[in-house]
Amino acid sequence: MEISFEKVTPKYQQVIFNWLAKPHMQEFWDNSQEHKDDIINFINGRKEPSNYFNGLISYWVGISDEQPFCFILTSEIKTEQQDITDLHRANLSKTGHTITLDFGIGNTHFLGKGFAAPTLKAFTEFFSTEIDSQADTFFIDPNEDNPRAQHVYEKAGFKRVGEFNADKGTFKGHISYLMVKKINRV
Ligand SMILES: CC(C)(COP(=O)(O)OP(=O)(O)OC[C@H]1O[C@@H](n2cnc3c(N)ncnc32)[C@H](O)[C@@H]1OP(=O)(O)O)[C@@H](O)C(=O)NCCC(=O)NCCS
Repeated sequence: MEISFEKVTPKYQQVIFNWLAKPHMQEFWDNSQEHKDDIINFINGRKEPSNYFNGLISYWVGISDEQPFCFILTSEIKTEQQDITDLHRANLSKTGHTITLDFGIGNTHFLGKGFAAPTLKAFTEFFSTEIDSQADTFFIDPNEDNPRAQHVYEKAGFKRVGEFNADKGTFKGHISYLMVKKINRV
């Protein structure tokens, strides 16, 4: 399976909004207007300030066979950030950058086919070779009620290091697991 990744541009806006409206996404994904506004802000080159996770998220789509099928969010977590848990801080990269990810397969034709693990492997590879050569640590934080996501993240090379209570966003108050993937930079 050939997979490529692109930053979200205007041509993907409606595709993504359609994905966000689907029940299988809504179960584990933020469907708030603030999230959608932040996606539009990103598409427009972040000319406006955004309060949505401090306006620091980058949005990506994964494409296979010319079909966009998954949605990926990235954001760098910096050592000097005050708003992270001790668990996150203890797992930050000591040698490079730490990137936190969110992942969802929006396109239902691509669901349930074992695509998540290879796609995430390809994305961490793509990100650390083509976007940020300092990126050597990736975080992902599935909800405790999402064993399917936990399983595929493990297959993609993420290891569970602990759990935390989300203190912001749609899943505020829910337990999430922090999973970490380290990669060797060349
Ligand atoms: C979670 C998600 C990424 C999984 O991707 P997928 O490629 O469709 O996963 P599949 O259904 O093909 O299942 C892959 C594996 O999970 C296993 N699995 C399925 N349901 C499971 C469950 N309830 N508990 C444990 N493992 C489960 C399958 O048996 C399969 O295992 P195998 O590859 O070892 O045989 C995808 O369903 C998705 O994007 N969902 C919507 C949004 C979402 O939940 N995002 C994650 C937010 S943290």
